[in-house]
Amino acid sequence: MKKGPFSFTLDTANFIPSYFDNHIQRHLSQMKGQYLDQEAYQEKLSQSDDLLYEVYELKRPEVAGEILHGISIVHPGKVGREYYMTKGHFHTVLDTAEIYYTLKGQGYMVMETPEGDWAVEKLKAGSVLYVPPRWAHRSINVDPEEDLVMFFAYPGNAGHDYGTIETQGFRKLVLDADGEPEIVDNPRWNPPENE
Ligand code: F6R
Ligand code: ZN
Repeated sequence: MKKGPFSFTLDTANFIPSYFDNHIQRHLSQMKGQYLDQEAYQEKLSQSDDLLYEVYELKRPEVAGEILHGISIVHPGKVGREYYMTKGHFHTVLDTAEIYYTLKGQGYMVMETPEGDWAVEKLKAGSVLYVPPRWAHRSINVDPEEDLVMFFAYPGNAGHDYGTIETQGFRKLVLDADGEPEIVDNPRWNPPENE
């Protein structure tokens, strides 16, 4: 982790930062239970454990005044009709927001609140997305060939709650319908018991 002011550059071809503290790589095997078509998931996994997405993180102390930031890259591909996507999460401190700036590619951010609101926003090079406090978020790459590359920034104390999405899923899915992305209700959405 850097001490004091610092800067880094993003090369214009692939946007990998010239400096980072952490490089996370998530493979198909780490997305067990997350894809709608479980059969397609198993079939694909039996062939190869593909790299679905990567995150380059600039670490900061995990306190409210800091801003964690970095680059996320979702690779192109599908499991059945569902595009490669991130796990998605709520922030542990629910009242923390996040900003995403899309540098390259095409996709969607699927979002929802514990209160039942949902939203799906398009992501394309040049678009800036504000994810307000309380909104879980998952990024999806709908381009058949290109990476979806985004710069993100969020408060240092936010933390990540992956468990809620792992057990209940998102209310909405984005599926490939004959070459066009389609937003559908998640038939496997598993609401919390008190709803
Ligand atoms: C951080 C954040 C992004 C994601 C990244 C990978 O709060 O939202 O940096 O961490 O897009 O997605 P997840 O963390 O859901 O695997
Ligand atoms: Zn986040």
